[in-house]
Amino acid sequence: MAIRELEHTELPFPNGWFAVEFSKNLGVGDSKPVHVFGEDFVLFRTRSGKARLLDAYCPHLGAHLGYDTRVIGEGVRCPFHGWQFDGESGKCSLIPYTERIPNEAQVRSWDVQEKNGLIFAWYHAEQKPPEWDFPELPEFSDPDWSEARTFEFEMPTHVQNMNENNNDPVHFVYVHGALETPPTELQYEDDGRVYRAISEVVKQTPDGPVPFKLVRDCWGLGLAAVRFEGLPGAGLLMFSSTTPIERNRTVSRWLLTATNNIIDTAGAEFMEGITQGVMHDTNIWGHMINRARPVLCDADAPLATYRKWVRQFYSEPV
Ligand code: FES
Ligand SMILES: [Fe+2]
Repeated sequence: MAIRELEHTELPFPNGWFAVEFSKNLGVGDSKPVHVFGEDFVLFRTRSGKARLLDAYCPHLGAHLGYDTRVIGEGVRCPFHGWQFDGESGKCSLIPYTERIPNEAQVRSWDVQEKNGLIFAWYHAEQKPPEWDFPELPEFSDPDWSEARTFEFEMPTHVQNMNENNNDPVHFVYVHGALETPPTELQYEDDGRVYRAISEVVKQTPDGPVPFKLVRDCWGLGLAAVRFEGLPGAGLLMFSSTTPIERNRTVSRWLLTATNNIIDTAGAEFMEGITQGVMHDTNIWGHMINRARPVLCDADAPLATYRKWVRQFYSEPV
């Protein structure tokens, strides 16, 4: 029997908040098809400015609501026969050519919120309402910090594997060319929902070595804020959201902001560095299986802790 059948080597979708688009890419009256969590949706912004996410397929004859759709008021109009659906409830609000609206004329409306430059949807395998939240990051509205730069890329891997990298200091040596394993301290906060990883880093520069702290806060399996602390007179923040498209296909969206005095020099370099760094992992992620019961050694304590931590974000045992 193949190993994939012997072990539970496929991870399900975790529950949590996941970005479905950058806020700036969805203007008032815009609508677009979105494919995440293995399903199809229509994402749109209502006339009052609210981002809404509905199941894609019209209950009438099954047209996709994300193509040739018209946003009308607080809802959308199906391109096929003009039925209208309210963005908040998902209920059909109008059939232009008949009086009575069938009770079943409804699509599912998903919980959405918008902050830190992104539009987020709440995914829960059992369709439970949002169970936790994450903060607005003050840097994004601080005039001393730059307007956020953004980028995104897809990876052929499960969302958990991307997140697990933070807790896997050894791989930085073998995959990313670090000279030694960066010393990292892990703290679990907020009833264990959030973890913080602090690494002490020394960057070699033409002016000599500059020590600083790399502080990573993670909310669930999708959201991370990485801050560079201890640089004299300067700060840098990267906020990212990784979203499952399919079980082993993930999109990662990043916003980078820095204090105005360093954005021009540091911004492009860091964005380039992240993209390059993540590319190193591609071949590992693209071909690995998930070991439900990995054989760990004594030095793998952070990984063991992480694997226990992730269980809270799944509706089924992993
Ligand atoms: S398929 Fe949507 S209105 Fe007919
Ligand atoms: Fe990595």
